[in-house]
Amino acid sequence: MSSVIAAPEGFIWGAATAGHQIEGGNVNTGHWENEYAPGTQIPEPSGDACDSYHRYPEDIALLADAGLTAYRFSLEWSRIEPEEGVVSRAQLAHYRRMIDTCRDHGVQPIVTLHHFTFPRWWDHSGGWYSEQSTDRFRRFTEIAATILDDVDLVVTINEPNMMVNQTEARIDTENGVNFPGPSPFVAQAIADAHHASTEVLRGVGGIRSGWTVANQVFQAVPGWEKQRDEWQYWREDFFLEQSRNDDFIGVQSYLRTIIGPTDDELGYGPQEWPEGTERTLTGWEYYPEALGHALRHTREVTGGVPMIVTENGMATSDDARRIDYTTGALAGMAEAIADGCDVRGYLHWSLLDNYEWGSFRPTFGLIAVDHETFARTPKPSLGWLGGLAQRNEIPA
Ligand code: NOJ
Repeated sequence: MSSVIAAPEGFIWGAATAGHQIEGGNVNTGHWENEYAPGTQIPEPSGDACDSYHRYPEDIALLADAGLTAYRFSLEWSRIEPEEGVVSRAQLAHYRRMIDTCRDHGVQPIVTLHHFTFPRWWDHSGGWYSEQSTDRFRRFTEIAATILDDVDLVVTINEPNMMVNQTEARIDTENGVNFPGPSPFVAQAIADAHHASTEVLRGVGGIRSGWTVANQVFQAVPGWEKQRDEWQYWREDFFLEQSRNDDFIGVQSYLRTIIGPTDDELGYGPQEWPEGTERTLTGWEYYPEALGHALRHTREVTGGVPMIVTENGMATSDDARRIDYTTGALAGMAEAIADGCDVRGYLHWSLLDNYEWGSFRPTFGLIAVDHETFARTPKPSLGWLGGLAQRNEIPA
């Protein structure tokens, strides 16, 4: 590492996961594979995943031993409210134990209420198209809030824009929407749910809340800036704008998307990445510069809401390359901070090699997981990131 800068005081250093991707045994969960969001590419189930439902004490201990001080994880709504209006006290107690385990290790728990998956009853009763969607999410927040009174940071909804992307090409005659892109109707429904949830969380202890948006770093082929802006609005900026009254916004960055001419009906859209581009195990472009761009764009659209990098990382089997990628991303973050971006923390995606929505092959983890024995093996990147956390230093 050539040079470093001191991170702002109180900077949060940690790693992130999501329930369905690590817990195992989420048999009551559906995600997007329903009549309301047809054509999903995302198969179920995640099987035993990483068995973190049972092994979370080991996961949290490994994170803490490495020197990281925050763990972002999500609640699985389908466990807590398996049928509409039926609350499982046992499952709430499970997640409360996770929070307590974090505390026992001096780790700050950062809790996501919703990370892509829904109870089946939700899917089968209208999903985001139901008039009750806001009330249902408000009620789930109230239930979850009963175990969150001493939690400082809560994420309401993870990557609402990616959820809405899944509704692409829907022609919604019923709601008068015939839109060749993500559905503004669903976008608004999710935003309403976020605001309702925020209102509930405001009434609980010292919680600071926000949501996390996938920042896709939209760039334009020269001359295609107007189309880029149009493309970007319902896929990102609408969601960033919603956070202008929130306590923080979670920035999630992996790659960039270049918008230019296409020969389909719309006439513009994502381009191939430049020839010779290095690809990660998700097939994405290796582009650590994305994080710096993402932070600047988020600041511009939100007008300066405090930011936390709630996800950033790379799927690779080469851990040294993961360290390179993260070094580059953190250097971009350091520059953004030097330029006045208010960044309060960095959470790496992901703590564990996990279920990447359809496959275990793209390994994002700081810790390897043997999917037969569930043995955990920390990778060098875990100790490396923990060292930065302990020294509160950002590569620059
Ligand atoms: C964002 C999502 O929140 C997470 O679930 C996913 O695994 C990572 N991106 C990597 O694709």
